[in-house]
Amino acid sequence: MARVEVALVEHARSRAGFVTEAASHLLSAGGKRFRPLLVLLAAEAGSHPDAPEVITAACVVELTHLASLYHDDVMDEAALRRGADSANARWDNHVAILTGDFLFSKSSELTADLGPEAVRIQAQTFTALVEGQILETVAPGPDEDALAHHLDVVSGKTGALIATSARYGALFGGTTPEVQQALTEYGTIVGSAFQLSDDILDIASESTESGKTPGTDLREGVPTLPVLIARASTDPGDARLLELLDADLTDDRLHAEALALLRAHPAMEQARQYVVGEAARAKALLAVLPPGPVRQALEAFADVVAVRSS
Ligand code: IPE
Ligand code: IPE
Ligand code: MG
Ligand code: MG
Repeated sequence: MARVEVALVEHARSRAGFVTEAASHLLSAGGKRFRPLLVLLAAEAGSHPDAPEVITAACVVELTHLASLYHDDVMDEAALRRGADSANARWDNHVAILTGDFLFSKSSELTADLGPEAVRIQAQTFTALVEGQILETVAPGPDEDALAHHLDVVSGKTGALIATSARYGALFGGTTPEVQQALTEYGTIVGSAFQLSDDILDIASESTESGKTPGTDLREGVPTLPVLIARASTDPGDARLLELLDADLTDDRLHAEALALLRAHPAMEQARQYVVGEAARAKALLAVLPPGPVRQALEAFADVVAVRSS
């Protein structure tokens, strides 16, 4: 991870000083580096986890993720990211969008070093990510189940890149095709669970410990798992919450009331239980790996996603 960190700083450099400054802004602000960590971890299941391609692939997925954060904060009108001002708040939307584009391009340049198979995977991942982000802004059709639509959005916007992280690690670390397939599937499930957990935290966390402003999804009217579960309630005691969920929650007073009601609602625990179930489903796929420290670490990784608090 130390080598990945050094390489990332290098890849965020541009011949234009201002571009380097804008691209380094969120890179140096922090971040969990969850995706590159998964690349390295999955590579440990193979015959050559120390291959230089593993480090390159780890940079590819983090740069793609980082780029998507610049764009996401524009879409969500978010002011805070990784405990720092978002790029759109620090500069403006134009800077945030073009910096995101720059980082996507750098990520693509780097992918070319990994060969055509990696380029194809990266392109398909990017397609899925963008489709997910766009579908989030489109209401489900009249015959479409709201929960199924939401899970489809989540698997695209977040699951796809985390699946690719596991897949790249497995591929460049030298695992068998069977293991590559199992780890890709594991990454898809863990990736979606990661997003669902993050959405639960967005409601539950009292502070900006996450480096983001809590309650942003509710304010922006972005549906999340606890909201979808609560919406399905027929309990008359939920009437006020359901009314608020349909209201304009950019109003601070209404937003605070909705957040408090939702935090106390059993939908929160049901959403958590769903995520724990998904982590168990992901862990079952690790049966292709021999018992030992690598499998244990991947199991622990899925558990942390399900019960994370930051
Ligand atoms: C944030 O991802 C966007 C989501 C998919 C929830 P991370 O939670 O991995 O963000 P950083 O990289 O740690 O800032
Ligand atoms: C992030 O979605 C997904 C991508 C960046 C592709 P969110 O909007 O839910 O993530 P946060 O909460 O801003 O990190
Ligand atoms: Mg967002
Ligand atoms: Mg968003």
